[in-house]
Amino acid sequence: MEKTLKIALVGAGMFGGDVHLRAYADLQRFGIGGQLARVGLDKWTRDLAPVKFDLVAVATRSANSAKRAQANFKEWTGHEPRAFHGDAPWDDILREIPDLDILAVATPDHLHTQPILAALARGVHVVTEKPMCLNIREADEIIEAARAKGLIVSVDMHKRYDPDHLRVRDDIQNRIGAPLYGTAYLEEPLEVATGTFKWVESSDPFSYVGPHWTDLIYSYYRSKPVSLTAVGQKKRLIRDGIMAYDAVQVRVDFANGLSMNFHNNWITPPEFEGPVNQGHEIVGADGKVESDQQYRGFRWWNAGDKSRTSNNHFTRDVTRPDGSSAYVGYGVDSLTVGLAAISRVKFHGETRESMALLYPTAEESRITCAIVDAAARVRDLNFQYLQEGKGATVSARFGEDGIFIVDPNRASEGADAVFQRIYDQPV
Ligand SMILES: NC(=O)c1ccc[n+]([C@@H]2O[C@H](COP(=O)([O-])OP(=O)(O)OC[C@H]3O[C@@H](n4cnc5c(N)ncnc54)[C@H](O)[C@@H]3O)[C@@H](O)[C@H]2O)c1
Repeated sequence: MEKTLKIALVGAGMFGGDVHLRAYADLQRFGIGGQLARVGLDKWTRDLAPVKFDLVAVATRSANSAKRAQANFKEWTGHEPRAFHGDAPWDDILREIPDLDILAVATPDHLHTQPILAALARGVHVVTEKPMCLNIREADEIIEAARAKGLIVSVDMHKRYDPDHLRVRDDIQNRIGAPLYGTAYLEEPLEVATGTFKWVESSDPFSYVGPHWTDLIYSYYRSKPVSLTAVGQKKRLIRDGIMAYDAVQVRVDFANGLSMNFHNNWITPPEFEGPVNQGHEIVGADGKVESDQQYRGFRWWNAGDKSRTSNNHFTRDVTRPDGSSAYVGYGVDSLTVGLAAISRVKFHGETRESMALLYPTAEESRITCAIVDAAARVRDLNFQYLQEGKGATVSARFGEDGIFIVDPNRASEGADAVFQRIYDQPV
């Protein structure tokens, strides 16, 4: 019996149209076997080698971009997926392709929940871009729907699969001892905010790229947040009439005592020597780890061009003997783990539960959703109070009794106003 997994991709912009589409192009032609040892799953190479991956549809907002993605895929593979477009093209896909196995979601940050829930309702597994969603209640809905149907929701948290980070998780964190404090930063180019994304006003730099780091820290220590505070600034993008935060800084305190500062912006000038600036460091009771993810000691310059750095670990082209390129890197690895888990569930009798250690799950992503959700509220209140000359005194507290926004500016209104409960389930 032929084993095939049918995939549909919604969202084929900067990320979906590049990383997802290229990864699915390699899967379409060669299957998943060649990727498995990279993520420690080589023992399944023989089992999964016969599985065929078929990109049956690609969907975007406009007809033109959908056709572009369709044409690119055909050029790379000789196979033409169906093209869909519109405000909710996932509904058309799910209706017209009832035997779909996987919906891959790479729509803008605020448009993940709808397609994820629609797919789960139809019994379709999901591979989604980060953040899974921007709100902890939506995270709960997704988890409930996935559990009820035994479906996988795998979240593309690729920082977990950076070889340097795997080393921290498996070895170095034990050497540096109990974590005390640290910083994680990801600074995006101005171009994404002023040109690439039409949705910057519906997101912010922390919601957009902070989840990479909050998830990584959670994957190292499995310790939940207990409190946070957040501030943001609006000075650069307003010059271009864009009413969005330039930068957001969030400090999260975790139950294990670690205090992490997350610094994000999307206003890095084009003169910066790499695509993004990123890294993290953690000080422990017995040592420290530093990881510069952008400048890894690899830099060049040449006549007619300035100095450049490059992170070749994320994705890279490996030239095949026939001159074409294989596409590998930790950016692909985080898709591989979810697809391997789905393959095991569909063809090898595994379950959602038995595969949970294999990939970044919806339950784990819920922690990041809780942080993103609370940070957005705290950030907005602190922004407003800072403008009024009242300082940035708002914070959030997480616990068994839910999530509270703590706003001392409302002391005259009583305790319920100072401690506003925004979520009443244990985090
Ligand atoms: N894992 C990573 O490193 C990484 C990097 C960049 C972006 N992302 C994430 O990927 C997602 C997409 O980001 P991007 O950079 O590709 O953004 P983008 O704006 O370049 O692309 C968005 C895509 O979604 C489509 N779209 C918008 N509204 C839609 C709708 N209603 N229905 C169907 N399609 C719709 C657009 O047509 C476009 O194809 C975001 O959630 C982002 O956070 C992840």
